[in-house]
Amino acid sequence: MTDSPLRNLAIIMDGNGRWAAQRGLNRTKGHEKGAEVIREVTTYCAKHPTIETVTFYAFSTENWKRPKLEVDFLMRLLDRYLQNELETYQKNNVRFLAIGDINAFSKKLQERIRTTEEATKSNKDLTHVLALNYGGRAEIVSAVNRLLAKGKTEITETDISTALQTPYSDIDLLIRTSGEERVSNFLLWQISYAEFYFSHTLWPDFTTEELDEIVTDYEQRTRRFGGLK
Ligand code: FPP
Repeated sequence: MTDSPLRNLAIIMDGNGRWAAQRGLNRTKGHEKGAEVIREVTTYCAKHPTIETVTFYAFSTENWKRPKLEVDFLMRLLDRYLQNELETYQKNNVRFLAIGDINAFSKKLQERIRTTEEATKSNKDLTHVLALNYGGRAEIVSAVNRLLAKGKTEITETDISTALQTPYSDIDLLIRTSGEERVSNFLLWQISYAEFYFSHTLWPDFTTEELDEIVTDYEQRTRRFGGLK
C-alpha cells in the first residue's frame, strides 16, 4: 500500500484519431468525444479525496504540424469547451489553469483562457490544468531564463521547481492512453519520480471506472523515490 497519496495526476490523452477512423468518422469527432471524457475525468478528480491537481496534455508544441483544418477545429473546440465548462468548474469548486505558451493562440481564445482562470481562481477542491501549446523542455528553459533575468547566478532544484508554470513540482501518476508508451515532452521535470500507467483504451473510450481501477493500482504500488523502503 502506498504511503504517498495520489495528489497530482497527469494524463496524455491519445487515440482520438484512431477512435474516429475505426468508426469511419472524421478525426474531429474523436476530439469532440475526447473533450467529453476530459469533463467526466475532471469531475471524478474533483470528488476524489486526495487528488489536488489533474493536468491534461491538450495541445503540444508539435501539434501545429497537423493539417490546418484539424488545428483550427481544436482551437474552436477548446473555446467552446471552456465556455460550457465555467458553470461546472464553479459547481464542483474547480480552479482552471493553463500552462504552455498561449500567445500563439487567437486573441479571443487567449481572452477566454484568462477570463476562465480569473473566474475560478478561488476554487479549492481541484486544480484542472490544461497544457496548451506546451512542451516540457521549453517550460524548463523559460524557468531558467526567468531566474537569470532575476539576477540568479547559481540555480538550485528548488529554484527551478518554483519557477515552473505548474502549481506543483512533482507528478505522482502519469497515465497515457491508446497503447503508446512515450512521454512526448510532457512535464519532463515533474515526472522524475512519477509512477506510469499505460492503458490500451483509446481516449474517447476512457471511463471513470477504468480511472478508478488505475488509481487502485497506484495505491498498491510501493514508491521508493530511489531509497530502499
Ligand atoms: C490525441 O489524439 C489527442 C490530442 C491531439 C489532444 C487531445 C485533445 C482533445 C481531447 C480534445 C480537445 C481538448 C479540449 C480541452 C477541448 P490523436 O489525434 O493523436 O489520436 P491518434 O494518435 O489516434 O491519431
